[in-house]
Amino acid sequence: MTDLIHRAAQALRSARKTIALTGAGISAESGIPTFRDPGGLWDRYDPEEYATIEAFRRTPGKVWRMMKDFTELKTARPNPGHYGLAQLEQMGFLRCIITQNVDNLHQDAGSRDVIEFHGNMRQVICQQCDKTLPLEDISLETLPPYCSCGGVFKPAGVFFGEPIPMHAMLRSQEEAQSCEVILVIGTSAVVYPAADIPRVAKEAGAQVIEINPERTDLTSGVSDFLIQEKAGVAIPQIVAAIRAMAS
Ligand code: APR
Repeated sequence: MTDLIHRAAQALRSARKTIALTGAGISAESGIPTFRDPGGLWDRYDPEEYATIEAFRRTPGKVWRMMKDFTELKTARPNPGHYGLAQLEQMGFLRCIITQNVDNLHQDAGSRDVIEFHGNMRQVICQQCDKTLPLEDISLETLPPYCSCGGVFKPAGVFFGEPIPMHAMLRSQEEAQSCEVILVIGTSAVVYPAADIPRVAKEAGAQVIEINPERTDLTSGVSDFLIQEKAGVAIPQIVAAIRAMAS
């Protein structure tokens, strides 16, 4: 394992530009359940009933109640994996993070350039007049919450069946096509178009380094190598290895 950590540290030190794509796995050690691991969110809630825009429009109150129950999201704190990526950015070895997560933990850990590919849950958008407010500015006493125009507020996360925010899509393509290394951390790489990002980087000549305790659809054909470890363990080790090389 340590030689893969050193291989990753070397790659980041010599790359002109490194980016990261993260998924729910990087927040697992913050207590937020992933979606597809055993016992994950989609074991408890049918995504067809809770995660599609059609389901939200059909039963907004039911979807809001599920999200309100999702207290882990409110109490979660960044873990060493998030802090490690923020350190790599500060050290100049990581340009940006493209995250599929909506938990804001990268920003809470100090990362500055974070592309929210699936939006975020910090804001709500009125489905009728598009008014956008911070989540904490609305009352969740009655669900679903209503806008003053009578429309229903929806969390600003991207539901299945909704488009990826255009700026996030364009910026992610641009970064993937121009990086020399992409770290792919904590994602099963089964949801598109996010799962395309490592392939776009690979086709543009980048080295693809996966960090995940499990193999994924990327591991054999796309990734150059897999550090089969938890993000909260592997990322701090990469940071330490870079520091040791620099001294
Ligand atoms: N460190 C790194 N990876 C981990 C850890 C950990 N501590 N724990 C679990 N993993 C890995 C799992 O092995 C799995 O490959 O994280 C991945 C989580 O996969 P998913 O649950 O499918 O999450 P993700 O890939 O982010 O899902 C993509 O699907 O439902 C939608 O919008 C949702 O953004 C989400 C998208």
